[in-house]
Amino acid sequence: MDKFGFSNNWISDLKGRVNIVSIASKYIKLDRRGKLYWARCPFHLEKTPSFAVNEMEQFFKCYGCGLSGDVIRFVEKIESLDFYDACKILADDCGMELPAFEKSNVIAENKKKKDTYLNILRDSAKYYYKNLSNPSSKSALDYIAKRHLDARTVLDFGIGYSLGWNEIISYLTGLGYSKEDMIGAGVVEQKGNNVYDAQAKRLVFPIINSYNEVIGFSSRLLENADFAKYKNTGQTLVFDKSRTVYNINNIKKIKNTEGLNEIIIVEGQMDVISLHRSGVKNAVACMGTALTQYHAKELKRFCDKVVVCFDGDGAGIKATLRSLEILVKAGLDVYVANLPGGSDPDEYILANGKDSFDKLIKDAKYWVDYLLYYYSTKYNLDKSEEKSRYIAECLAVINTLESESEKDIYLAKLRDITNISISVLKEDLRGAKLNSATDVPDEEAKVQKSDSINLKENAYVKAVKFVISALIYKKPYAVLNDMIRENIKNSDYVKIYDYIKDQYDSGNVPKVSSLFDMFEVEDNSDVYDIANYEFNSLEDNEQYYKDCTNTLISYGLLIRQEEVTNRLKETKDNNERMMLAKELQDLITKRKGL
Ligand code: UTP
Ligand code: MN
Repeated sequence: MDKFGFSNNWISDLKGRVNIVSIASKYIKLDRRGKLYWARCPFHLEKTPSFAVNEMEQFFKCYGCGLSGDVIRFVEKIESLDFYDACKILADDCGMELPAFEKSNVIAENKKKKDTYLNILRDSAKYYYKNLSNPSSKSALDYIAKRHLDARTVLDFGIGYSLGWNEIISYLTGLGYSKEDMIGAGVVEQKGNNVYDAQAKRLVFPIINSYNEVIGFSSRLLENADFAKYKNTGQTLVFDKSRTVYNINNIKKIKNTEGLNEIIIVEGQMDVISLHRSGVKNAVACMGTALTQYHAKELKRFCDKVVVCFDGDGAGIKATLRSLEILVKAGLDVYVANLPGGSDPDEYILANGKDSFDKLIKDAKYWVDYLLYYYSTKYNLDKSEEKSRYIAECLAVINTLESESEKDIYLAKLRDITNISISVLKEDLRGAKLNSATDVPDEEAKVQKSDSINLKENAYVKAVKFVISALIYKKPYAVLNDMIRENIKNSDYVKIYDYIKDQYDSGNVPKVSSLFDMFEVEDNSDVYDIANYEFNSLEDNEQYYKDCTNTLISYGLLIRQEEVTNRLKETKDNNERMMLAKELQDLITKRKGL
């Protein structure tokens, strides 16, 4: 498999030449303890080291935030680069040549396509911007004036206008682009045989990523409408709304020039632009979608502190509550600024000026304070049953805090609000803790609820995970066996098994870090569980491996036996029936032989 046009051979060659310990040492201070090197995690805030580098297996894992990967992933993350550029840096580091990209493979094709789309988008943005000096753009200019935007702001954000349904098509055709590519870039849309400008007759806002590339557009109707006043580019090879933060290009610039203390998150791009024009330049917006973990990660690349400043209406408050958890989980320091009575940041700053807005941001509440305050508006604290529900909600929040001293601070605040003594609150908090500790994790919860079949299935999944992990970690007791392979139902795990066998067959040694080449290892995915398998002392031995192999094989045979039996009931084809009957006999014999 090729990744970004690099062959697997090239990548493993690269990984063989660099050592993750020396690469990581350039960025963080590593302390050796036993087989592992430890450091404070560079990817989330922490006071005690939970970031471990495994030199033998050449990969890292943070026990705090859960991030793990090989040396390439480490460089990707710490330098905020993509796979290709991370490889470039590492290759440079160990004096390896980059392979030439003449091979026409899917990735190179994709890269070419992406480049074409980016060119189309950039040329279109320039074209829309130029349109503003065309006399036919009077209505757009009037609108811009009505929104109090000046020429400088229009230029800063590259705001433009689409004159009509077809002009952009003729223009781009003149530059030599095909209609197919215009559609692929999302600039042009097609309905039946009809192609037209996706932003037709609208004010156009280019969406620019942190590399200063135009990746899509958002465009606004000039007249006021209740429905769909904005239209965004749909998903394309270069644009994905759920990962895109509007104005991140300027955020990066500020960070690299004046430095950046915080990022203000608002709902709309007009809010970002209006704040910018009034002198508040560090605001961003999500493109009309709920904030995602990817947005949060993108923000974390540039700053640790964010202030959520959504519209002061019911929808804005709901969106605030939803985004808090995501932002906090991403390791950001999260504050909430409250806009009064239904206004949005644009309206607020136009009505009250920059100083007033600055003060609003300065007075933003730390997210825990915000929630304590928000819940107090939700419940009537004069009624005892509502008061105890209020306390329960607040304690659940306080319970998520990591440090004891922070918990104490908020318990004291809760005491001040409720007049319930700290010792009683602490008692309740302990109760809350007990509850969450006895909450069974998802997988086990499923088993508890259901019958013995699922119990068996769970034992099977556990056995498969252990066996594959023992194999890839090269445990001395872990031996390959064709019966194992035949009875693994998870195709990723089969792939790992084949990789291990392949390595041994060709005289090599399998490496955990290769998993990161073979798969996109998402957190909590099946492959993640293997790469991060924690062997405990009860399990880490030959007997347990044998037991698991047996469980895996016997349960695998049982599943197949059921499949075959069911198929036998269905099929009328005599040939197939004979084959199935024979297989069934085999399966039964095999199970007896275990
Ligand atoms: P808002 O409705 O809050 O817009 O939507 P706004 O920022 O106040 O815009 P103006 O002041 O009326 O011009 C917030 C964001 O939601 C997305 C847009 O990205 C917008 O910036 N949105 C909104 C859409 O995608 N489609 C819509 O129809 C409306
Ligand atoms: Mn608005």
